[in-house]
Amino acid sequence: MKAIVYHDYGSPDVLRYEEVEKPVPGDEEVLIKVRAAALNALDWRILRGKPWPMRLMIGGLRKPKITRPGRDVAGRVEAVGRNVTRFKPGDEVFGVCLGACAEYACAKEDRLALKPPNASFEEAAAVPVAALTALQGLRDKGRIQPGQKVLVDGASGGVGTFAVHIAKSFGAEVTAVCSTRNVDAARSMGADHVMDYTREDFTQSGQRYDLILAANAYHSIFDYRRALSPGGIYAMAGGGWLQMFQAMFLGPFLSLMGSKKMVSFMAKVTKTDLVILKDLLAAGKVVPVIDRRHPLPETAEALRYLEAGHARGKVVITVEEGKGN
Ligand SMILES: NC(=O)c1ccc[n+]([C@@H]2O[C@H](COP(=O)([O-])OP(=O)(O)OC[C@H]3O[C@@H](n4cnc5c(N)ncnc54)[C@H](OP(=O)(O)O)[C@@H]3O)[C@@H](O)[C@H]2O)c1
Repeated sequence: MKAIVYHDYGSPDVLRYEEVEKPVPGDEEVLIKVRAAALNALDWRILRGKPWPMRLMIGGLRKPKITRPGRDVAGRVEAVGRNVTRFKPGDEVFGVCLGACAEYACAKEDRLALKPPNASFEEAAAVPVAALTALQGLRDKGRIQPGQKVLVDGASGGVGTFAVHIAKSFGAEVTAVCSTRNVDAARSMGADHVMDYTREDFTQSGQRYDLILAANAYHSIFDYRRALSPGGIYAMAGGGWLQMFQAMFLGPFLSLMGSKKMVSFMAKVTKTDLVILKDLLAAGKVVPVIDRRHPLPETAEALRYLEAGHARGKVVITVEEGKGN
């Protein structure tokens, strides 16, 4: 089969479109004929292998151990391992795997859900990592409640677009922060208020929020803290290195002082949450925003675009139906 692979850390230039062995599913795994994959910041961060401490976490100090990009996948089940009970050949599924940018990929059964019929493969592939992050940031870390004032910083990216939809589905009053060119798109996603960060700094506006989800954090943790109501929560998913460092190391101390909580988190892939997202997709409460679609051989170009940091929603890789048979 054809797959996108790399043999050294580096920029998207090191990605190759190569012939590789078709994977064989393990006992708890499902072999998927990939129809679409979606890219995440994690893909270019792991590809670059920077900052260096990241290599300790992913293994492969000099050479990468993970050699294929793509976590988010959607496609048709081709075969199942002998302990798999939830899926059978022919089922249309979406979820998380390793090496989704390929004609075939294997995923653990509990990292998949059935694709709702109203969603395309491209839409379903756009969902997993970004929407799980938005859901868990709002619900588990942010303890979102109906009627709360919720601000999503970085509302126009992969995580942020899902966060706006999911916060609305919880009945919150949502403020989306994005740049000028995305203001109309943020309104059409259902945000009650939109702030253009090139013209207005919400941390200086005097407004207070019950929950701030930083999909892309670019302010100091002290600015986010000031913008919280008493008892408010700041949940940081990603952003600049300084902001991530502050949330991880200063957040726990600031949370001990007063009633405001400052947390950072890593999303977890769970069967339960994938099924919740499937139901939200089926009900039309979550509508994936897809910025670009690239065919599999153009994965490097797609990743270059994502890494530039201004994608509007998700960047999706498509695999032709007839390929890989
Ligand atoms: N914690 C986790 O488990 C987890 C999971 C997934 C992702 N992440 C992290 O979360 C972050 C966001 O991921 P993503 O998929 O949403 O990334 P993304 O799609 O690449 O984000 C791009 C968006 O960021 C917006 N942006 C850029 N600068 C901004 C600023 N100063 N203020 C507000 N928005 C700004 C851009 O809007 P404009 O073009 O309008 O500037 C663009 O729409 C990344 O750092 C990623 O590593 C963490």
